[in-house]
Amino acid sequence: MTDNTQRVAIVTGGARGIGAATAQRLAADGLAVAVLDLDEAACADTVAAVEASGGRALAVGADVADAEQVAAAVERVATGLGAPTVLVNNAGVTRDNLLFKMSESDWDTVMGVHLRGSFLMAKAVQKHMVDAGWGRIVNLSSTSALGNRGQANYSTAKAGLQGFTKTLAIELGKFGVTANCIAPGFIVSDMTRATAERIGQDWDTYVAARAAQIPVARAGEVADIAHAVSFFVSEGAGFVSGQVLYVAGGPRA
Ligand SMILES: NC(=O)c1ccc[n+]([C@@H]2O[C@H](COP(=O)([O-])OP(=O)(O)OC[C@H]3O[C@@H](n4cnc5c(N)ncnc54)[C@H](O)[C@@H]3O)[C@@H](O)[C@H]2O)c1
Repeated sequence: MTDNTQRVAIVTGGARGIGAATAQRLAADGLAVAVLDLDEAACADTVAAVEASGGRALAVGADVADAEQVAAAVERVATGLGAPTVLVNNAGVTRDNLLFKMSESDWDTVMGVHLRGSFLMAKAVQKHMVDAGWGRIVNLSSTSALGNRGQANYSTAKAGLQGFTKTLAIELGKFGVTANCIAPGFIVSDMTRATAERIGQDWDTYVAARAAQIPVARAGEVADIAHAVSFFVSEGAGFVSGQVLYVAGGPRA
């Protein structure tokens, strides 16, 4: 593809972890990539990695839960890189606690980033997809959607994203837009490191214990998820929509 026809992707939470790996993977697949995260400066490493491999990338600072910031961010991407027709809703946070100790603000924060954030981003980007008659939306769910102790907020949000995805698939399909969900299992990242810290476990012991429960006998890597995103975004995946792909080294959490 020439630059004029190069597809443009937005990866939220692209500063690190799964989002950074996904941004780099989509760039390697030939897309220009907007790396969106809370702090624009934090996106610099991902942007540099894409550019070092010959790709085009743009750092964009925005809180996905804030409608005005989302609108401005999508506008900036359209001006700076071109109309975005690929959206990866990856930004995420955890505020784990048992139900009886979970604060309203920890509930609201998790709903805000995952559900409101994905809604606002999809709403802002869909008009570019509809105009182009082509689009790809990939939402990051989790095996926690099946239920996970200490994650009433997170598992609810991640289950909600599965319903959101299926509805987008139904509404947007006739415009050439697919919507799919990836539900990762245990992936090595800052998010899971923070979980180990919170429960007071040594990281290597924690990873070994988690890997022992996984059929392929290893922890997931960020590249495992980026690979699945790459498939859903690919030109050939246009007949795959409304699906939830568990990428967890086995059939369940
Ligand atoms: N790591 C895992 O084991 C795992 C498993 C299942 C699902 N997931 C999901 O995958 C996604 C990425 O996870 P990760 O492990 O890379 O996490 P991470 O914590 O390493 O990265 C998340 C990124 O999202 C950004 N972010 C948070 N709130 C934001 C907001 N309001 N606006 C914009 N950006 C925001 C953070 O700044 C950070 O850069 C998340 O949605 C997470 O819930 C992760």
